[in-house]
Amino acid sequence: DGIVEQGTQVVMKNATRLCSTKPIVTINGKFPGPTIYAREDDTVLVKVVNHVKYNVSIHWHGVRQLRTGWADGPAYITQCPIQPGQVYVYNFTLTGQRGTLWWHAHILWLRATVHGALVILPKLGVPYPFPRPHMEQVIVLGEWWKSDTEAIINEALKSGLAPNVSDAHTINGHPGPVQGCQSQGGFNFKVEQGNTYLLRIVNAALNEELFFKIAGHQLTVVEVDAVYTKPFKTDTIVIAPGQTTNVLLTTNRGTGKYLVAASPFMDAPILKPKLKHLPCTGPTQDRPLLVLHRQPRNQPLRHLREREPRGGRFQQRLLRDAQDLSPPGTFLQHKRRLHRRFPREAPGDVQLHRHAAGELRDDERDEGVQARVNSTVQLVLQDTGMIAPENHPIHLHGFNFFVIGRGIGNFDPKKDPKKFNLVDPVERNTVGVPAGGWTAIRFRADNPGVWFMHCHLEIHTTWGLKMAFVVDNGKGPNESLLPPPSDLPEC
Ligand code: C2O
Repeated sequence: DGIVEQGTQVVMKNATRLCSTKPIVTINGKFPGPTIYAREDDTVLVKVVNHVKYNVSIHWHGVRQLRTGWADGPAYITQCPIQPGQVYVYNFTLTGQRGTLWWHAHILWLRATVHGALVILPKLGVPYPFPRPHMEQVIVLGEWWKSDTEAIINEALKSGLAPNVSDAHTINGHPGPVQGCQSQGGFNFKVEQGNTYLLRIVNAALNEELFFKIAGHQLTVVEVDAVYTKPFKTDTIVIAPGQTTNVLLTTNRGTGKYLVAASPFMDAPILKPKLKHLPCTGPTQDRPLLVLHRQPRNQPLRHLREREPRGGRFQQRLLRDAQDLSPPGTFLQHKRRLHRRFPREAPGDVQLHRHAAGELRDDERDEGVQARVNSTVQLVLQDTGMIAPENHPIHLHGFNFFVIGRGIGNFDPKKDPKKFNLVDPVERNTVGVPAGGWTAIRFRADNPGVWFMHCHLEIHTTWGLKMAFVVDNGKGPNESLLPPPSDLPEC
């Protein structure tokens, strides 16, 4: 009937990986958490009951949340967290959206274990724009730390040093088989010869861009971030934290076992290389991992159809990432908090920052970037990092944006816009800004509210690679934020 209800208990659960056991925060005792299935235009009601000692909030990554910012989830941005013992019902509609998205905790580092896929099927009777797959499989890539992740981040914040890198990568919660540990095989996926499978791949890792590959097979990318793409054949996909990629896999090789591997693009910090336990299944003498680092980083993805991102007059900003050098007054400055407290305001007022800002110290103040409702916003995200060679996967809440251009070096406002793709640019919610390069995006600010934008490498968000857009209410019929729900948590 178009309504999907999901009961969600936040509970501690002991989990054993890499021969050791620790308690983790989970949803319904599962790691990764349950996959939520829905259809385009469905209304989703998720009742979250917090049974753990941590404050919790859940973000529906990639869900537009048209006029329902109260259900978006980032703690202290659009809601106060759900405190121990409290309950909150996330209530939102998947208006015009279908594809693979995901959900995750959006507070502290809880998303290390609190995450899962959100699969939105097309409306009944509407086919995929590619041959119907024989079967579908969700693949959630993650990271695993032997010790407690909240302790790790708290420690790092105290010492000012980078947090420990994870001890393993996981596929659907499993690292690869570990010698000497009982009943800890990797993730296995049984397929039959001659079929086509749709893999819905989510990178839920906290801090690492990953390569994903299946030995001996080609993959055809057909969708990213729940938007169809022109089919793109590749043998390796690159997927950043926050991104989702749907690929078709045709099992056109002989029977046998094939290695499935997720391997890091790079491990931070580079000075302390550490051989990590990689998740894999199949014969390990087949070692595709070693060559992966030479693969091109930016796959030329295009929108399935021609889409004209609105041109004409737009608000343009050049935002600089000051993550490594932190010159004052630049993009995504090192701010610990956008604001600490989120007052319950009348729906007419979405300028939430203003109210909160007064409580912050001057250097922590952030007014957010104002955008008029239904205006077109163009951003050039410039990476100025000179130390870290990693891309920054920048995620915008509340919108999909068109990726109209990217390049290496400094953005040239005279030359570079001439090369923008305004015909069939890929549409996403999370895009990699290349190290030492730039990415240009455009979106229509058609969703009033406060929308977080941040690097999806969790440690970078922690360090302050984040900001928010404030889209004001307009006068038109669909131009204002709906009233907050009565159970919206208070701080
Ligand atoms: Cu997937 Cu603000 O996050």
